[in-house]
Amino acid sequence: KGLAAASAAEAMAASSARPRIEPVHYSFPKDFRWGCATAAYQIEGAVNEDGRGKTNWDIFSHTPGQVANNDNGDVACDSYHRYPEDIALLKNLGVRSYRLSIAWSRIFPDGRGKPNQKGVDYYNKVIDALLAAGIEPHVTMFHWDLPAALPGGWQNRDTAYALADYSGYVASQLSDRVHHFMTVNELRCFTDQGYGSGIKAPGLKLPQAEVNQVRHHGILGHGLAVQAIRAHSKPGTQVGLADNTVFFLPAFDTPEHVAAAKKATRENNAMFMTAIMEGRYIDEYLKQEGDAAPKVEPGDMAIISSPLDFVGLNIYAPEWVRADDGPTGYKYIPHLPSSPRMASPWLVVGPEVAYWGVRLTSELWNPKAIYITENGASADDPVTDGHIDDADRIMYLRNYVGQFQHAVAEGYPLKGYFLWSLLDNFEWADGYGKRFGLHYVDFATQKRTPKLSAAWYKEVIRQNRVV
Ligand code: NOJ
Repeated sequence: KGLAAASAAEAMAASSARPRIEPVHYSFPKDFRWGCATAAYQIEGAVNEDGRGKTNWDIFSHTPGQVANNDNGDVACDSYHRYPEDIALLKNLGVRSYRLSIAWSRIFPDGRGKPNQKGVDYYNKVIDALLAAGIEPHVTMFHWDLPAALPGGWQNRDTAYALADYSGYVASQLSDRVHHFMTVNELRCFTDQGYGSGIKAPGLKLPQAEVNQVRHHGILGHGLAVQAIRAHSKPGTQVGLADNTVFFLPAFDTPEHVAAAKKATRENNAMFMTAIMEGRYIDEYLKQEGDAAPKVEPGDMAIISSPLDFVGLNIYAPEWVRADDGPTGYKYIPHLPSSPRMASPWLVVGPEVAYWGVRLTSELWNPKAIYITENGASADDPVTDGHIDDADRIMYLRNYVGQFQHAVAEGYPLKGYFLWSLLDNFEWADGYGKRFGLHYVDFATQKRTPKLSAAWYKEVIRQNRVV
């Protein structure tokens, strides 16, 4: 025995190997849901098939100069036809869940009225194929592709009611098989960027008072959709949203900086998540907007704050803040040219936002459950001898996933993680120029090739820990 131990020690010394310590602290709970996310307009293509109606994004992307390279989503990844192949990719990764969105205008080509059976049939086929592959669908109702026939888009309060009718109908058709629904995706993007900065469809640059009204209609639509989904789905259906709540990280972890981060996060999301979770526009926001504050009808805030089963967070980039003696109690620390970024200029790297996003959400609003409904990164992805060795994306993802694990280990109710994205796809105003996929898409041939990051993610899922 002594001899064996001695020779093992000798062997170890000879190879200078060190004993492995099982990194239990890196593990996720057994029932953690690993997934991937996509959205209809970004992957489906087939914009004129089976009765699909026109959307704001069809119009915007066909307006010269609005999208990089004048790209559009007419073909995208052609997933409308290639969904069996894409589901096979998901299955190969070993994900338990897949987040997809329904194209509103495939179901109601004019946004409302009579449903288009061919559209319903399509999503039935996709969902049945996912279930047959052992993958649970998590469905987003509205991921920005608004039926163009809805007059005034989100400037019109009626659009909120149309979203609810559509969502209720979809829930009635799918909730026998789909157990998680998200009402809307990223409120800030389809309101502020569509109607304020104009960098997304419909590309308007309205005055602040009108943008605030658009925001109000957006959260009202969310609340009405929550109620409609509940009214038309099977008991036990989980309802939430996917939001890009902006998280402010404490410069470092001391009570005064953490208090500053919490206050900044609550106030900067006052028109979205804070209103949804607290059922009112907080005083700081009303004071700041003054005469431009949104017009609220009686009962709106109760609808907007309809109880949720989970909150979905799309977490990519951090904001930083520090404690300050001034009236707000905090001071923003701007991104600088030296702040590390991925391929998209907005994608500042700051993995701690993963941990703090979950923690601040819990401390501020205490939701029952949290999902990371998106996280991922654009990278340059050169193809070399048929390989895409995206070590930079792996570095980004590994660091973020590690920080999510930190939040889980501390007991925050984080239930799952959806990586954006399964495939390279139509990245909105950046067109096909920014790639976020685990699978490389050659848009000339539609060939999908797994990147090194796909092998990484598969291993994370297999071992249920950060690798
Ligand atoms: C946010 C959006 O929900 C998604 O559509 C987009 O492609 C990714 N993040 C990356 O920008």
